[in-house]
Amino acid sequence: MKQVVIPRYGPPEVLEVREAPDPHAGPGTVRIRVAAAGVNFSDLLARQGLYPDAPKPPLVVGYEVAGEVDEVGEGVTAFRAGDRVFAMVRFWGQSELFVAPVDFVRPLPPSWSFQEGAGLPVCYLTAHHMLVRIAACQRGETVLVHAAAGGVGLAVAELGRILGLRLIGLASASKHAVLREHGVEPLDGRDPRWWEAVKRVSPRGVDVVLDAVGGDSWRQGYRLLAPAGRLVCFGVSTLVAGPTRNMVRALWEFIRFPRWGAIDLMNRNRSVAGVNVGHLWNERQLMLPQIDALLTYANAGKIRPRIDKAFPFSQAADAHRYIHERKNIGKVVLTP
Ligand SMILES: NC(=O)c1ccc[n+]([C@@H]2O[C@H](COP(=O)([O-])OP(=O)(O)OC[C@H]3O[C@@H](n4cnc5c(N)ncnc54)[C@H](OP(=O)(O)O)[C@@H]3O)[C@@H](O)[C@H]2O)c1
Repeated sequence: MKQVVIPRYGPPEVLEVREAPDPHAGPGTVRIRVAAAGVNFSDLLARQGLYPDAPKPPLVVGYEVAGEVDEVGEGVTAFRAGDRVFAMVRFWGQSELFVAPVDFVRPLPPSWSFQEGAGLPVCYLTAHHMLVRIAACQRGETVLVHAAAGGVGLAVAELGRILGLRLIGLASASKHAVLREHGVEPLDGRDPRWWEAVKRVSPRGVDVVLDAVGGDSWRQGYRLLAPAGRLVCFGVSTLVAGPTRNMVRALWEFIRFPRWGAIDLMNRNRSVAGVNVGHLWNERQLMLPQIDALLTYANAGKIRPRIDKAFPFSQAADAHRYIHERKNIGKVVLTP
């Protein structure tokens, strides 16, 4: 089978398609013939050696796949060969064949394409976990989200609409029309003083900030919180300066990350939380019900990933470049 391999850290051009032995389904697993695999921002971090969770190169990233079951392991009754499914996986997803534990596999909603299926797990689970479990958003609350037109951002928009939230989204100006269609109030995410615009549209502050930029952005987001406000830190895109890694800049950014004191949090009635869904992989009682909640929304037609572009495995470097250049609106996927 073919896989998209990061053979060493470097710019997008290092990515290679390599052959690997076909895996086979063991007990409690199914083998999926992958039709689409999601690309996530963390793939860019992993390729630059800025993602400590990733195995050392040569490695294959990919945390979500969709395709047809083509081999069923011993003891599996929930799926049969030919079933159209999607799955949340932990690395190695950007492969032609993937063996997944059945707990993490779900039937694809009938009208969905494989690409849409591959666009669901990471972005929607992250968005759902932040809005529902961590920030415990209440109807009518105001949520500020960064990179609002990206994969996670649009998932937040769709779930925010279901939850009855007011959403303010920071994004490049070219993406604002799509945000409006999603019911999000867009603001210019490239404005170096973006927080002043947030204050103008929400003078009392915001109830929740979802921030995967990191660094000074977290500091500003914290200041914007209304009483009982929650800042959810879930990424560090500020460490990625461009397609080529800049370690000095990344380290400089890193040491300037804010730190909050318990007394200040208490007196200001604010909360700061962190989310890394990759680290919740073994917390099945926490994550699996959320996947099922999302599947219910999907089958009811309430959510549907927006696929911006699909790149063949052989053009994985272009897919990475596309995200580096901030061109994506919604999800980017790879197809074998
Ligand atoms: N903690 C978790 O469990 C978890 C899970 C999933 C994702 N994440 C994080 O959530 C964020 C969004 O992930 P995603 O996969 O949905 O990506 P994405 O938002 O679809 O793609 C990246 C977008 O982020 C914005 N951006 C901000 N800083 C950037 C930079 N330095 N380089 C390129 N683009 C930058 C750009 O939008 P604008 O031009 O509109 O600003 C760009 O289009 C990432 O930081 C990711 O690491 C965290």
